[in-house]
Amino acid sequence: MNSADFEFISSLIKGGSGLVLTADKGYLLESRLGPVAHKYGHANLDALIAALRLTPRGQMLTDVVEAMTTNESFFFRDGKPFDMFRNKFLPDILARNAVSKTLRIWCAAASTGQEPYSLAMLLTEEASKLQGWNCQILATDISNEALDRARSGIYTHFEVQRGLAIQRLIKFFEKQGELWQIKPEIRNMVQYRQFNLLHDPRPFGRFDVVFCRNVLIYFDQPTKTQVLNSISTVMDKDAVLLLGGAETVFGISDVFKPVADHFGVYSLAANESLKRAV
Ligand SMILES: C[S@@+](CC[C@H](N)C(=O)[O-])C[C@H]1O[C@@H](n2cnc3c(N)ncnc32)[C@H](O)[C@@H]1O
Repeated sequence: MNSADFEFISSLIKGGSGLVLTADKGYLLESRLGPVAHKYGHANLDALIAALRLTPRGQMLTDVVEAMTTNESFFFRDGKPFDMFRNKFLPDILARNAVSKTLRIWCAAASTGQEPYSLAMLLTEEASKLQGWNCQILATDISNEALDRARSGIYTHFEVQRGLAIQRLIKFFEKQGELWQIKPEIRNMVQYRQFNLLHDPRPFGRFDVVFCRNVLIYFDQPTKTQVLNSISTVMDKDAVLLLGGAETVFGISDVFKPVADHFGVYSLAANESLKRAV
């Protein structure tokens, strides 16, 4: 691929999703966009790019962007964020929202569902404390394909072996031939919506907890700043944001401050928190 084509396609992908394609990742274009080219009847990537130059929008562009997303996820990924949620943030919310009895969680890059379902399993395990509560888990992602998989709740043996304790597998899943499907009562706890993090999330309302894990790593600094700032607009004044292990707000956004002793967790900076109180 010549450099003009590389520039063109990488700027289309970045404009549509924020995903940055550095020159060393050029090989990904060939492997991931080949199937998209064939789907639209183009012989190869060059022909697909020529078609995109004529019509740089619509379903073909959506498919190109989706093909470039990395949907890697697993249940209870990294362990700690879910321990912190159970041991610290959930008890805090139970005390804080004791009157409204509402708990709203947003998984902002939910991929194929392992993260929101991990939270749904945790809430089910804590059900005795949540009697009479209205608990909502909103799970969004830019990729419709990933969301379709998430909605199905069907996972391979390999996927359920990654991060999921055998007791949880037995309790929360049903075997479907060679596959495993998460039980309807857990599936029904999660609402899925397609959402691009470059857009305004305020129509979703305010949340007590936001998981935005392992997606900022794919964005450049200005996009990270934009996304973090817009996430802050839907956080309740005492809400927490949990980022991935390789992600931070430091040097990127000053609307957050770290939560002491809780690595990778941030709350609103004092002045932002005050704004939510009025
Ligand atoms: C590596 S997965 C992370 C999944 C999960 N949060 C975890 O940590 O296991 C990254 C996800 O971010 C999504 N993504 C990428 N760009 C996005 C955007 N602009 N808006 C919303 N989701 C996006 C991808 O489709 C992908 O499913």
